[in-house]
Amino acid sequence: MTATSEHPWWREAVFYQVYPRSFADSNGDGVGDLAGIRAHLDYLEDLGIQAIWLCPVMRSPMADGGYDVSDPRSIDPLFGSLDDMDALIADAHARGIRVIMDVVPNHTSIEHPWFGEAVAAGRGSRARERYIFRDGRGIHGSEPPNNWPSIFGGSAWTRITEPDGSPGQWYLHLFAPEQPDLNWENPEVFEDLATTLRFWLDRGVDGFRIDVAHGLAKPEGLPDMTITDNRLLAHNDADIRFNDEGVHDIHRKIRKVIDEYPEAVTIGEVWVDDNARFGRYLRADELHLAFNFRLAETKFDARAVRDAIENSLLAVAEVGATPTWTLSNHDVRREVSRYGGGPVGEARARAMAMVELALPGAVFIYNGSELGLPNVDDLPEDVLQDPAWERSGHTERGRDGCRVPLPWKAATPPFGFTTAARSWLPIPPDWADRTVERQRSDPSSMVSFYRAALRLRAERTEFGGAGVVWLPGPSGAVLFQRPRGLICVLNAGPTPVELPAGNVLLASAPIVDGLLPTDSAAWLV
Ligand code: NOJ
Repeated sequence: MTATSEHPWWREAVFYQVYPRSFADSNGDGVGDLAGIRAHLDYLEDLGIQAIWLCPVMRSPMADGGYDVSDPRSIDPLFGSLDDMDALIADAHARGIRVIMDVVPNHTSIEHPWFGEAVAAGRGSRARERYIFRDGRGIHGSEPPNNWPSIFGGSAWTRITEPDGSPGQWYLHLFAPEQPDLNWENPEVFEDLATTLRFWLDRGVDGFRIDVAHGLAKPEGLPDMTITDNRLLAHNDADIRFNDEGVHDIHRKIRKVIDEYPEAVTIGEVWVDDNARFGRYLRADELHLAFNFRLAETKFDARAVRDAIENSLLAVAEVGATPTWTLSNHDVRREVSRYGGGPVGEARARAMAMVELALPGAVFIYNGSELGLPNVDDLPEDVLQDPAWERSGHTERGRDGCRVPLPWKAATPPFGFTTAARSWLPIPPDWADRTVERQRSDPSSMVSFYRAALRLRAERTEFGGAGVVWLPGPSGAVLFQRPRGLICVLNAGPTPVELPAGNVLLASAPIVDGLLPTDSAAWLV
């Protein structure tokens, strides 16, 4: 892969997001691991992706699927060793596949040595200054310091017991109590992240996905907030827990470290709706890329899809940054289910994959999308692991339904994912016809379709150029053209749509008499 500073490798890359617990297990413990990923690089190379985004694999007690890191410069034994990571990077690079890792700078695990030190060192100590400890309100400080809820339910504050046994201060955790927020006003916190970034970059990783990139800075004085909808992933620009202006200085400092490695990329998790505010994260001295979740939130409706695309393009245009596209990830319901499930949901998911792959910019595919996996909404309650399930008092099932392991082969669960009798989350028996093995030998399968689409995207020059031009079409359809000629037509309406003039490169459903059926898309040149 060639890359220059004017045309960096990530600008049009297709990233494949691996949720390590769920991709492939190599050691028979029922949980996916690094050697499992390494053993399936053939599959990823053949699929035609350019980079892997690896969700957290660092040492963690796994209170939140690895987003509670107790040692950011290590590999959790559940996933393997540093040698396994080095080998994965080397093997991926040998195939021209880049590897980016998740880093989690907003919080640590309560098992991080810093947190133990902070609790032991007592009030006012330097060790406490690494986190956000405050005295409580009310009589004897028995009420939390402010009214912030945690994203996973309950208060965002937990009270500790002081070393002398007395009821003590409270610490902030925007997520689970096992994920104490770091104090980004303390320079030591940045220095430690810089050490972590260099540690992995020196081992050869090609960049980072930055968790909660919009949440690191907290508002002065931690005032009470107006609580609206606090459900998981319901976000709101007025939420003062996130998107504090101070966050941009932090990103500038991070960028300086990243720039020591000219080809490295950062992609931030930025849940911010307002385009101007979103764009600020992508100024030349901040993040390279930021996730734009609009397509992942949009229903299958022509107007809504077009609005989401226009909006996402606008959000980056002002700062000249690269757009990003994603239909799903490990935090949202799988697209096949969001679009209605069954054959309709799958047809729409195919069509939307063609839309995102036709757009300018970087695309992120969540593992299993290429198999057309639906969300598993009926996991038994006793297997649910998402902290949201407990914290919400069993009212939010959480995100386990999109994290069910991948089916690789054979006719019964666990479908070659593991040699153990059971995988960490059970795989539905009716995924027998969704296994990689089955789908690869079927030219009409979802995986064959993804493979064909990714090949065309990589090989055809018509996909080039920035921006899109909207073409007229009937209501229910979305038509756009790329500067070098590719036309993409989406039919989200109830009746077949006539295709414009041109040669069809790919269609997600058979075209009859020049008509594109409902719930499908086509590419023409
Ligand atoms: C966003 C991650 O994508 C999610 O999985 C995690 O629970 C939170 N950040 C907290 O780290």
